[in-house]
Amino acid sequence: MSLLSVRQLDRETVDELLERAAVLAGASAPRRKRGTVVNLFYEPSTRTSLSFQIAAQRLGMHVLDFGVDRSSIQKGESLLDTLQTLESLGVDIVVIRHSDDWPSLLSGHRFKMSLVNAGSGIYEHPTQALVDALTIKEYFGTLRGLTVTIVGDIRHSRVARSNAHLLQMMGSRVQFAGPPQFRADDIPGCTWVDFDEALPESDVLMMLRVQLERHEGKHEMEHYHREFGLNKERLAVLNRQALILHPGPVNRNVEIADVVLQDRRCRILRQVQLGVAVRMAVLEWCFGNNRFGQAVSA
Ligand code: CP
Repeated sequence: MSLLSVRQLDRETVDELLERAAVLAGASAPRRKRGTVVNLFYEPSTRTSLSFQIAAQRLGMHVLDFGVDRSSIQKGESLLDTLQTLESLGVDIVVIRHSDDWPSLLSGHRFKMSLVNAGSGIYEHPTQALVDALTIKEYFGTLRGLTVTIVGDIRHSRVARSNAHLLQMMGSRVQFAGPPQFRADDIPGCTWVDFDEALPESDVLMMLRVQLERHEGKHEMEHYHREFGLNKERLAVLNRQALILHPGPVNRNVEIADVVLQDRRCRILRQVQLGVAVRMAVLEWCFGNNRFGQAVSA
C-alpha cells in the first residue's frame, strides 16, 4: 500500500489510522521489527523527516536517510531511476518529499515497495493532514461539525490542500482567509472569509507559513503581519476554546507573533509530538497492506 494523496483515503481508513496513531502515542505501544524505510527528501525538512525516522525506529524498522546532496541524483539520476534502484536494493518503503507533483510524474509505474508522500510541491502533504486531524480530534473528541479556518498562503500550500480535503471528508467545515494574491481557486468546498470576522467563530485556527521559496515576487512581511498575522489583539478576540495550529516551521512575527506560542490554545508542539505516532500508523498501514506490486495512480 502506498499513501500518495488524502483522496485515496475514505472515512473508515482515516478513523483506523487516527485510532491506531492514538494507541501508538501511548507508552505501552507495541514495537515490531520489520522492513527497511528510506527517507528521500529533495526539499528541506525537520519535523516530517525526523518523525518518519523516529517512527520507523520505534517500529523496529531499519531506516536510512538518503542524502540527496551526496547521491547520484547530483549526476543526473531521475526520480524513477532512483526509486527503481532502491527497490532493487530491497527497500520496503520510500518516504518522498519533492518540489514537483511527483505522484503524477510517476503515474502508471509499478512498484513492489510502498511510496509515502511527505510533501509534493504545492499539492499534497497527507501525513501532515493526518497529524492535524489527530491533534484536533484529541482536543475536541471529534472532527464533525467543527469550523476550521486556514489562514495565509493558501495558494502555495500543500498543507491547506490536503487538510481541506481530509477535514471536509471527516465532517468539518473548512474556510480560508488570506490576501488576494494567496488565494487558490482549485480547492473545492471551501469559502473565503474575512480573517478578523472569522476569529470568534472558529474552533480551529490553522496558521500557514508564507512559502517564500515558492513565490516569484517578494512580499512585504511587516504589512503581512499587520493584516494577517495572529497577534495579541487578535488572540483576545479568538474563541476562548479555539485551537491554534501551525504545521511549522513558524516564521515568528510574520504569520504568528511570539506571544501566540505561549498561549494555552496553541498546540503547535503537540502537533510535532503526534507526528511520530501518525507516521508509525502510516508506516504500519503501508507495510501491512503491501502484499502485491502496485502501480502509482495520482
Ligand atoms: N510541517 C512540515 O512539513 O515541517 P517540515 O518541513 O519541518 O517537515
